[in-house]
Amino acid sequence: MEQTLSIIKPDAVKKGVVGKILDRFETNGLRIAATRKMQLSQADAEAFYAVHSHRPFFKDLVEFMISGPVVVSVLEGENAVLKNRELMGATNPKEAAAGTIRADFAESIDANAVHGSDSLENAKIEIEFFFSKREIC
Ligand code: RTP
Ligand code: MG
Repeated sequence: MEQTLSIIKPDAVKKGVVGKILDRFETNGLRIAATRKMQLSQADAEAFYAVHSHRPFFKDLVEFMISGPVVVSVLEGENAVLKNRELMGATNPKEAAAGTIRADFAESIDANAVHGSDSLENAKIEIEFFFSKREIC
């Protein structure tokens, strides 16, 4: 069993598709072990995406991530990290495979509906960033 971190980003929360996205996880074998709606601060977003701090899109990414509330979740299941990435689709929704979350709910590479951990190692770090042990069950 693996755990991974999912964020439903501000564009998808504003659109009112939180339930539809959580349903994709549950119907594809990813159990919701923890979930919370929250407003990220600038410091939260900068720390969370620190790996991208030297990239040209960093400022826009942080601004977008604090533009409205997000829904953070811990997803649990077999191969959860990879399975979530498959359900999400490619970073650029124009390149995302049909039937993926980004193909169905995202508008652009900036407003791309969801985040998912990209490795088991990063999943552990990202889960600890948002949740205490007693919130994950
Ligand atoms: P995420 O971390 O949000 O799950 O997305 P990802 O792994 O598919 O993509 P990543 O390379 O980690 O990039 C993080 C977010 O930065 C924005 N981005 N913009 N303009 C660009 O070239 C560009 N590249 C990345 C995207 O919003 C991406 O989700
Ligand atoms: Mg990433």
